[in-house]
Amino acid sequence: MVKTKRRYICQACGSVSHRWQGQCPDCSEWNTLSEDAPATVFSQKHDLSSGGRAVEFVALDVPGEVPKRRPTGMAEFDRALGGGLVPGSAILMGGDPGIGKSTLLLQAAAKIAKAGGHTVYVSGEEAAGQVRLRASRLGLADAPIKLAAATSVRDILTTLGTMEPPALLVIDSIQTMHSDTIEGAPGTVSQVRGCAFELIRYAKETGAALVLVGHVTKDGTIAGPRVLEHMVDVVMSFEGERSHQYRILRALKNRFGAVDEIGVFAMAGAGLEEVSNPSMLFLSGRDTPLAGSSVFPALEGTRPVLVEIQALIVKLQSGATPRRAVVGWDSGRLAMLLAVLESRCGLNFSSAEVYLNVAGGYRLSDPAADLAVAAALVSALADKPLPNRSAWFGEVSLAGEIRPVAHAGVRLREAEKLGFAKGFGPSVSGKNSKKADANSGALNYQGLNQLANLVDQVMVQQ
Ligand code: TYD
Ligand code: MG
Repeated sequence: MVKTKRRYICQACGSVSHRWQGQCPDCSEWNTLSEDAPATVFSQKHDLSSGGRAVEFVALDVPGEVPKRRPTGMAEFDRALGGGLVPGSAILMGGDPGIGKSTLLLQAAAKIAKAGGHTVYVSGEEAAGQVRLRASRLGLADAPIKLAAATSVRDILTTLGTMEPPALLVIDSIQTMHSDTIEGAPGTVSQVRGCAFELIRYAKETGAALVLVGHVTKDGTIAGPRVLEHMVDVVMSFEGERSHQYRILRALKNRFGAVDEIGVFAMAGAGLEEVSNPSMLFLSGRDTPLAGSSVFPALEGTRPVLVEIQALIVKLQSGATPRRAVVGWDSGRLAMLLAVLESRCGLNFSSAEVYLNVAGGYRLSDPAADLAVAAALVSALADKPLPNRSAWFGEVSLAGEIRPVAHAGVRLREAEKLGFAKGFGPSVSGKNSKKADANSGALNYQGLNQLANLVDQVMVQQ
């Protein structure tokens, strides 16, 4: 017997409810639930007589089946992808409007096309003329890209069926696509999911690498159902402050590679330029040290990037609840660090507002940033600058100890290369200490055991 059940899907977060409600119980958005095509529930015996077919099992190790990656020719894009496009894979590219998704993909498509690959770029947002205009601004008008302005998935797939499958198929964007077999306006959950499903199936069957551009909502998640993120092989996010020049391409999920490598680009007059040595980008370049500012040698995948962290402490007179605001770092981690500084080092932040900012629009995820953040906070509280040209890294435990982190040598070497005179980090012991010594060369490295040592450092100097 086949039972059907009604179900309602939230257009904002994709959660499923079995009755209609005015407010989504998961994301608390109003008027976002809409009815989905009825789900069919099978409750029957499973044997070959019921119409099921036996699936075939295969071995994991089939020689000669590993598809070769195709480099796009943009080294930073390839780095973020983990070495190039995997044939038959589906990539979801998210990012704020105007951040440069279309520009990046047009440049990548042009590179592949010029190298002899067959590329198709379908724009659902811009007219062909607009894309052509951008291509000529970028100096790419001569690239043999097949460009189309279309939004019907049926038309797109029918057209693609008449030609050789492309090496790269760009759909800009998935929210503008619609399929006439599915109800609803373009951009609704069922349309986005259905269109993506058909396009991904085409990619898997033909070996074309598919890139779907996805819009991003106010809170930074890719608009449309979360299932889209599950359906694709790679989820990439193109980030940056629109007012800043730099853009970072990051893989949030990658079925074919690591997710810790980033690609760094600069938006210039002639499109996106690759930045192959980004370690200086996020420093302010100022010579005299300021109170509340520290430098953290972060590691992005295998590459070190020096990042400036700024803290501002405002003492409150009244008993109002003090604000804690963070840009570019985790606010939960900041609360933890403030608690450790209060209880282990005797500092008092309870009646002060704390603002923390990572310079240059950069977003830190490396846990080794703890010590640099603590250094900036202590320096701001004491209103004393940290030692000139010093770099700080290390993880802070709840007990106030400074714990070793990965790749201390790489971090120190990079700081030294950029003219830093001092490094502060976890005190290393045994074989690690020799390694750190050998790596730090001209840089004066000082190991700290406890967060209290850092407070002494800042308070004692001058
Ligand atoms: P775009 O690729 O259209 O962004 P998205 O597809 O993510 O919405 O990029 C648009 C912005 O990029 C636009 O605001 C201007 C800027 N830009 C440049 O600065 N230089 C250029 O050469 C191009 C093509 C765009
Ligand atoms: Mg665009």
